[in-house]
Amino acid sequence: MAAMITPGSPVRLVPGTRRRSLNLAILFLVILALLWSLLFHGNIGHGRNVKPDEIRDPFDAIANNTLGFEKIFAISPVQRLDRRDAIVLASSATGFHVDFIDGFVLEEDSAKGLNESKKGVEAFTASRPHANAVQRIVAAGIASALILEDDIDWDINIKMQLKGLALGAQQIPRINSPESNATTDSPYGDSWDVLWIGHCGIKCDGSSPIQLMPHDITAMPSRYLPPYSYDPPAGTGNNVRMACMIEKAACSAAYAITYRASQKILAASTRLTDDDNMDFPDLLSGLCHNGSLECYSSYPSLVGRWKGGRKEYSSDNDQQVVNSPMSHSSGVMYSTLGNIEHILDGECAVRATIDDAIVPELIPDLFEVPHSFLQWTDKRGGHERAL
Ligand SMILES: *[C@@H]1O[C@H](CO)[C@@H](O)[C@H](O)[C@H]1NC(C)=O
Ligand SMILES: *[C@@H]1O[C@H](CO)[C@@H](O)[C@H](O)[C@H]1NC(C)=O
Ligand SMILES: *[C@@H]1O[C@H](CO)[C@@H](O)[C@H](O)[C@H]1NC(C)=O
Ligand SMILES: *[C@@H]1O[C@H](CO)[C@@H](O)[C@H](O)[C@H]1NC(C)=O
Repeated sequence: MAAMITPGSPVRLVPGTRRRSLNLAILFLVILALLWSLLFHGNIGHGRNVKPDEIRDPFDAIANNTLGFEKIFAISPVQRLDRRDAIVLASSATGFHVDFIDGFVLEEDSAKGLNESKKGVEAFTASRPHANAVQRIVAAGIASALILEDDIDWDINIKMQLKGLALGAQQIPRINSPESNATTDSPYGDSWDVLWIGHCGIKCDGSSPIQLMPHDITAMPSRYLPPYSYDPPAGTGNNVRMACMIEKAACSAAYAITYRASQKILAASTRLTDDDNMDFPDLLSGLCHNGSLECYSSYPSLVGRWKGGRKEYSSDNDQQVVNSPMSHSSGVMYSTLGNIEHILDGECAVRATIDDAIVPELIPDLFEVPHSFLQWTDKRGGHERAL
């Protein structure tokens, strides 16, 4: 038939007007098809008959308003409005919401009231608000909550960092007991009791598989980290991040706990006597250590410390003002508070807190979870599996 389409063939004999209306009809059909496909695709997003859970990435919840936990609490004395301002500002810039739990400031009155040694009062002042947060989780039946101290700073990429930790927290327990198949709603998996994301030192459980991210540009080189209480886990180095099940940790700058964990913490805390003077991080670490709680953490810490530029009160005397004019972030690579002005100005890049960062300026929108793999040893030797 194609051979017939030659000069003078029937095709060319179609009169001009008829050809035009044919073209118009085809154009009309094409537009109709386009419109239909647009409408159809638009419907998939809002379709009532498509369950959102079926198309949603299970890790998506980590990017929600509470970082994939049910609640986020920040412990802060009502008097520390400067710190509350900083927490509200930084969390709004990062895209999550924080509720406050009142902390205490050290005052002569409370010392008189309790008639304890100064050390005891200090331990009480620091630890009791943590116990109050835990109590609130149990009382309100909250499935999981992240608890923050108020002098912290975090990496602007914390949602991606948490997604990386979630990969580890989901997969590490599967190596240890592959047959377990309980399911919960947590994007961090169903095995964890504690995700200790803000610390000043951890000790990995020797029998736990380790999640390694060899090229994480947000991992602060060890020499820039504030003093940690424990040596870095074996195998860490510049721009290497690792996550593991932990045996111990120090400092309670930020940690997520489940309802079940909160009950156990409260039980252990009620068993303490006044003479114990145990501070909260030690209590929590003890429960991780003796196997009461399954605790996971990331090295280096995902949360650093922030020192505000405003006047600081010395802890010895509430009235005494110590001059500290410079605000300062320590322990995180792309500080949220350190970059807050750039972020609010709508700049798309943030700056690293150290001069010799591999990526001195980063566009956070382009940061993805770095490649990671699990490493473990069993009777048959060493193993490695990409995540
Ligand atoms: C965020 O996700 C977690 C886990 O799925 C859920 O429990 C929590 O309610 C969500 N928060 C919000 C504000 O949607
Ligand atoms: C506080 O306790 C000490 C001994 O533990 C006691 O000697 C002292 O009188 C007490 N002070 C007050 C104000 O109760
Ligand atoms: C896992 O699921 C299977 C079937 O789906 C069930 O037979 C088994 O008891 C479950 N194991 C655990 C530990 O819940
Ligand atoms: C761990 O320690 C806590 C508090 O000291 C205690 O209540 C709990 O029974 C211990 N758990 C185990 C498994 O030893």
